Amino acid sequence: MQPTIWIQWVLSHGIPRAALSIQARRNEPLARFLVGPRRGGDPLALLEQIRARGPVSRTPFLSVTADHGLCRAILRDNRFKVTIPANMGLPRPITWLIRRTDPQLPNPAEPPSMLQVDPPQHSRYRHPVAHAFTPRTIDRLRLRIIEKTSELLDRLAATPHPDLVGDFAAPLPAEIIADVLGVPETLRSQMLERGEHGAPLLDVGVSWKTFRRAMDSLREADQEFGHHIEQLRNEPGDDIFSHIIRDGNLTRRELATTAVLLAGAGFETTVNLIGNAIVLLLQHPDQLAMVRDNPELWPGAIEEVLRFDSPVQMTSRTAGCDLELAGQHFSAHEIVLLPLGGANRDPALFPDPNRFDITRPNAKDHLAFSSGVHACLGASLARMEATIALQALFERFPDLQLSGTPAPRGLANLHGYRHIPVRGTSTAVRQPNGR
Ligand code: HEM
Repeated sequence: MQPTIWIQWVLSHGIPRAALSIQARRNEPLARFLVGPRRGGDPLALLEQIRARGPVSRTPFLSVTADHGLCRAILRDNRFKVTIPANMGLPRPITWLIRRTDPQLPNPAEPPSMLQVDPPQHSRYRHPVAHAFTPRTIDRLRLRIIEKTSELLDRLAATPHPDLVGDFAAPLPAEIIADVLGVPETLRSQMLERGEHGAPLLDVGVSWKTFRRAMDSLREADQEFGHHIEQLRNEPGDDIFSHIIRDGNLTRRELATTAVLLAGAGFETTVNLIGNAIVLLLQHPDQLAMVRDNPELWPGAIEEVLRFDSPVQMTSRTAGCDLELAGQHFSAHEIVLLPLGGANRDPALFPDPNRFDITRPNAKDHLAFSSGVHACLGASLARMEATIALQALFERFPDLQLSGTPAPRGLANLHGYRHIPVRGTSTAVRQPNGR
């Protein structure tokens, strides 16, 4: 198993890693942006350099646009495909080698994950999930979110040196997505650990050690979800995943991949949204005071957090043919990096984009949840979790403050904090508001 995994790493991460390192040493801003956290580059400054080069900037391997209008147009244009080897026009021996060494693991960053499959096949995976994730089922989760938030806040009140990631922002979405998947209590903590190991797979050019650890975690997740799927097939629960299993007509591998995608997408992003919001609001006391005094501003505040510090910083698409779009020419197989977080700072759409302003009228036009056929399926769930959790946290701890410097996760794509040390005094218990 190990040699084939190594070949997979060389092809999917090792070669891009080497190429990026060379370009980063030559000061190419796109390469520095992609290896950023490893080298301590300032991603926002690099994005501004990229933007200054015009709507599309090209390097030998990759193009990039931080133009909001163009990013959105690319995401919504079905002539652009997902970035997988089959769409890249690679030499045949390479695609053969990639297929031969496929470890057949439920990797959310590879087919058959819906995230990495184009229509029409994409609908086969997306429809059953979208069907199960109706507004009605999401609304049913509201009560569970309120209950879990209360429980976490009670525990926080009794914790001497709380870390708002480990003690609050992480356990809430983890618990909710575990409910969605019907995962029993006993498996929940392993699920979190595996998510942590798998998250770097969304970066470009990860190290061999990180890749191997992620593959080990995926192998374990595959076994556990395999048993879990069998159990739910025999005894379906009232959870969303049981509905997907019953109605989706998907194979075991497709179901396991869907489960790992939902676990990762549902947890690894929402934890960042809640954590980023806490830090931004604590660092902008005027904005926090405004939303405390006017709770109807919470939904807008969350859109502004999504715009200002997007939990998913980038995605990419590959041109399926030679094409023209918005006055730009793209060649067949050209890979275009779409830095969603950079598009969300485009001054052409968001005036004074580096100002955090919870009353920004068009904050909701951000691309933090992407757009087009792959637009996030969990957006309303994430928004609901964040609104309930943040409003309750700031009501319960009126004098909440940072007690140290928040520690970033250090990934290029999933943007958030590993630890947020705080202090504050709890007021009397109040039930979190679900609306
Ligand atoms: C703040 C929280 C979240 C953010 C920022 C986020 C962001 C994203 C983005 C950017 C994409 C599309 C990537 C692309 O176009 O290549 C996506 C897709 C997806 N997200 Fe989310 N997400 C969040 C929460 C969730 C939650 C809570 C769930 C599930 C419960 C979820 C499930 C999915 C799924 C299944 C897809 C794949 C859709 C497809 O390919 O058709 N996400 N998300």
